[in-house]
Amino acid sequence: MPERLRHLLSIEPLTAAQINFVLDEAKPFQEIQRHPLKKLATLRGKGVALAFFENSTRTRISFATAASRLGADTLNLQAESSSVKKGESLLDTVRTLDAMKPDCIVMRHASSGACEFVARHLDIPVINAGDGCHEHPTQALLDALTIRDRLGSLENIRLTILGDILHSRVARSNLQLLSKFGCCFTLCGPAMWLPREFEQMGMRVKLTPRIDEALEGADAVIVLRVQEERMHEPSLPLAEYVLRYQLTPERLRRAKPNALVLHPGPMIRGLEIDPVVADGPQSCVLDQVTNGLAVRMALLFMLTSPGADSDSSRGTKYVAD
Ligand code: NCD
Repeated sequence: MPERLRHLLSIEPLTAAQINFVLDEAKPFQEIQRHPLKKLATLRGKGVALAFFENSTRTRISFATAASRLGADTLNLQAESSSVKKGESLLDTVRTLDAMKPDCIVMRHASSGACEFVARHLDIPVINAGDGCHEHPTQALLDALTIRDRLGSLENIRLTILGDILHSRVARSNLQLLSKFGCCFTLCGPAMWLPREFEQMGMRVKLTPRIDEALEGADAVIVLRVQEERMHEPSLPLAEYVLRYQLTPERLRRAKPNALVLHPGPMIRGLEIDPVVADGPQSCVLDQVTNGLAVRMALLFMLTSPGADSDSSRGTKYVAD
């Protein structure tokens, strides 16, 4: 059995065995999403703090639903309406939450490294739900589960990532995760959004601003949202972005015949992706959302139940009441 996780702060330090272990643990939780009775007793009596210092729709709802389906209670911090707005420090805010005795904390923050900082100061497990431009590890795990289910394996896949890779924590976590399985990547977007850091880390990465070349022979394509809120330099005119980088059905034909199309959401139809592709047979977007629940249930279970990860079937007993 791979070494037990204490926190989930980033994909970078994980081994392929640890990643496979999390994905395997998520399998029974995938089954539960198809069951008419979705509520388990696994974490009854436990508390999960949700500390979202940055906007989120799907990730927050996904963690809240995952906790609730495991029978846990959630403690919710909404940064917009909390004392954070009155000037309270990050550490005071999370220590206050911690004093209400949750069993773990799920945290999103606009600053890279914020979750690691909190993990150094609290005794409970911390799950990173996205920190600045750094990492979004649960997104990469749910993407990996989706790809593994559809393609049968994560080994040696040819992956194209389209868009603003420089500012994307989703891209960063996916590159970290899939490169552990020997995957090779083509990163495509405007030159100013194509970072060189991944080549320098020794990953099998090609950079190109030409989308047709980038899609050639791909097994899977991850389309990123144009993130205006995280851009430090002026963006291109959106009309030009659409013209040069939108994933259209014609462009997708350059990839392998059944190449997968993934998008972490929120998806801006008509900007980075043509609605025909978003709703087409190759799109995995809604599977990603459902798999997100399974992965997050598995992680909450593994991190809050010491010793529980040796027998995942114990995690999936339905609640009687
Ligand atoms: C992503 C995020 O917030 O990093 N969304 C998500 O968590 N599903 C990507 C994005 O906002 O574009």
